[in-house]
Amino acid sequence: MSINFQFKVMHDSDIGNVHKIEAESHLHPWSEKNFLDCIVQKYWNYVLLEDSPSNQRIGHCIIMPGVEELHLLNITIHPHFRRQHIASRALMSLEEIGIKHHYLKMLLEVRRSNDVAIKMYEKLGYQFIGARRDYYPLVKGDTFSREDALVMEKILKEIK
Ligand SMILES: CC(C)(COP(=O)(O)OP(=O)(O)OC[C@H]1O[C@@H](n2cnc3c(N)ncnc32)[C@H](O)[C@@H]1OP(=O)(O)O)[C@@H](O)C(=O)NCCC(=O)NCCS
Repeated sequence: MSINFQFKVMHDSDIGNVHKIEAESHLHPWSEKNFLDCIVQKYWNYVLLEDSPSNQRIGHCIIMPGVEELHLLNITIHPHFRRQHIASRALMSLEEIGIKHHYLKMLLEVRRSNDVAIKMYEKLGYQFIGARRDYYPLVKGDTFSREDALVMEKILKEIK
């Protein structure tokens, strides 16, 4: 049986818990300040809550709305809740909201090495449109280098 979840608008008071999931999930997690900045900017900032009496926090998602495009900045699912189509369902719901608000496309950057996320985006219909060389820091032990971002987009609404 698939897990049901709800979207909750992220507030300052959520940041501590959001950051725990973030830190467990990324080699280079966002800082608490990064999340606070998104709240201040009034981006589409959501905590995903399991639809159960415990309302457990299962992930988060941040989208920066532009003029005619949406930009996915962060989507993260708690390791215990992965591979249950939660991120895919969340993204599809947000795409639907984008379509209702007349946004034309969703854009995102993903690390070249993030095979799991790339697979998910491709499955959802995202296509590669470019790369940003050395976009992300890559720290492994004492070694500091950089990693490319792949830029992907999904057309939400064709211009006639
Ligand atoms: C990427 C991430 C958000 C995916 O969340 P999720 O809810 O587990 O993903 P879904 O269950 O919706 O997966 C959808 C599809 O993606 C692919 N996929 C997801 N996880 C995968 C894995 N571990 N291995 C291979 N393919 C995978 C599969 O095609 C999957 O469909 P299927 O299960 O029917 O085969 C999650 O792994 C995560 O939080 N990772 C760390 C943070 C991150 O990398 N975020 C994205 C940054 S751009």
